[in-house]
Amino acid sequence: MYRALIAGVGHFVPERIVSNFELEKMMETSDEWIRERTGIIERRWINEEDNNADLAQRASLKAIEQAGLEVEDIDFIILATLSTDYFFPGTGCFLQEKLGLPGIGALDIRNQCSGFVYGLSIADQYIKTGMYKNILLVGSEVQSRGLDFTTRGRDVAVIFGDGAGAAVISRSKDNKKGVLATCLHADGRHAKELWQELPGSARKPMMSHAIIDEPGIYPYMNGRYVFKHAVTKFPEVIMEVLQTAGVDKSEIDLVIPHQANMRITEAVRMKLELSEEKVYSNIQKYGNTTAASIPIAISEAIEEGRIKEGSLVCLAAFGSGFTWASALIRF
Ligand SMILES: CC(C)(COP(=O)(O)OP(=O)(O)OC[C@H]1O[C@@H](n2cnc3c(N)ncnc32)[C@H](O)[C@@H]1OP(=O)(O)O)[C@@H](O)C(=O)NCCC(=O)NCCS
Repeated sequence: MYRALIAGVGHFVPERIVSNFELEKMMETSDEWIRERTGIIERRWINEEDNNADLAQRASLKAIEQAGLEVEDIDFIILATLSTDYFFPGTGCFLQEKLGLPGIGALDIRNQCSGFVYGLSIADQYIKTGMYKNILLVGSEVQSRGLDFTTRGRDVAVIFGDGAGAAVISRSKDNKKGVLATCLHADGRHAKELWQELPGSARKPMMSHAIIDEPGIYPYMNGRYVFKHAVTKFPEVIMEVLQTAGVDKSEIDLVIPHQANMRITEAVRMKLELSEEKVYSNIQKYGNTTAASIPIAISEAIEEGRIKEGSLVCLAAFGSGFTWASALIRF
């Protein structure tokens, strides 16, 4: 059986930096509140000309280059996003067109903050069975066009940001490197605690003039409820993947949690008794970029030398669904 290797990683974030102070001008909030409760100082917002697939394309080209491959070497695309460019088809098809790869399969997955780790697990299975050689896995989000920037939506609007991260997952015969294990979970009983109700076909008819005035067109989050579950599920799923791979916690070089909230990351770090250097955080700069947060963080951790050849890295995510997932990778 083959091994799935992370052959290259890249990220792209829009140039436009939006500080907490800028948000103060749009709604009743404060830099102090946002920093204290979330750790976020600024986030990026996409510019007028670009769409989700453009961010995805730029991150993808960097990942492909880092892998030392040509675009044509990619034989499958998996794209994770909750902020698709269009209702259908998925953004993966638009990315495929932008990359000039007609004919290869493109799969969109909708697992929100856990999307990248779910995608990695899918890619891992395809590589192991020999179905594909070089899979492009992307997490890409444009949150800034779908949030309520009035005081009504402030609990959600201040948290999210735009950006994209990509990885090339390649076939390898090296048994010591690559994806060692992945764990995936969901519990739909909590679906409505972090969701966007509209538009959706559960509404009859799906579309009407009236829905534009309903709060359901914006994401809803029961913040405390999400927080409580996240701080339990993150450590659980990290321990599960370590157990699955037969690895001790002390062997981990770096944990990359989905960048949901600095306080969640800190609570998880304390629960697992990990030192600060062993847990990656860049939420200060980007906010929560949902499916893009983990690949952006991997890419930056490589650039900063915090992931090196041989590093043992644990990814963990939690989000809407609820879904939660983890992966253990030897670089
Ligand atoms: C959202 C979150 C930061 C809110 O922090 P909290 O300490 O739970 O705060 P609460 O929701 O209890 O709100 C406290 C007060 O701040 C207010 N508030 C909410 N958003 C605010 C904002 N952006 N600016 C200022 N005040 C705000 C609330 O209205 C509330 O006011 P009240 O006490 O007068 O009713 C926190 O619950 C959280 O991080 N949850 C997890 C979110 C998450 O990670 N989501 C993504 C999962 S992938």
